[in-house]
Amino acid sequence: MTKDLFSRRTILIGGTALLAASPLPTLAQGAGPAIHVLKDPNCGCCSAWIQILENDGFAVTTESSLGTLLMRYKLDNGIPQEMFSCHTGSVDGYMIEGHVPVADIRRLLDGRPDAVGLAVPGMPYGSPGMGPESEREAYDVFLIRRDGSNEVFTSYAAA
Ligand code: CU
Ligand code: CU
Repeated sequence: MTKDLFSRRTILIGGTALLAASPLPTLAQGAGPAIHVLKDPNCGCCSAWIQILENDGFAVTTESSLGTLLMRYKLDNGIPQEMFSCHTGSVDGYMIEGHVPVADIRRLLDGRPDAVGLAVPGMPYGSPGMGPESEREAYDVFLIRRDGSNEVFTSYAAA
């Protein structure tokens, strides 16, 4: 009888401990997607783009890379040369090349298409981290398919 009561009490305590612990993992998930970015340490626009991601809740880690080493990294990860920009990010199995807006990264992560990732080739003026959006030039965000082809993911009109 006493033994029975004791084990019931243990179960109750165990349940309470589980409930109390549950908010912690929830908070950790709220920290936003983790993205790892390779960038030229001397590139200011890369840092500006990273700042925009951090302000939006992304957990950004960076790594210095440049020249042929960075280009090799892009190619090895399925980014065709015509899609090249400055920095290269990797988030949740997808590559993010250049000044891709946060809204497009989030749409990619929500939809999870079978693809390499997103790219904004070159460095269009007025894209995130590349000067004021009010003076934006028209540019496209491309979805890079696994076969190296691409399609327009989002079109941004000139401001
Ligand atoms: Cu740039
Ligand atoms: Cu950059």
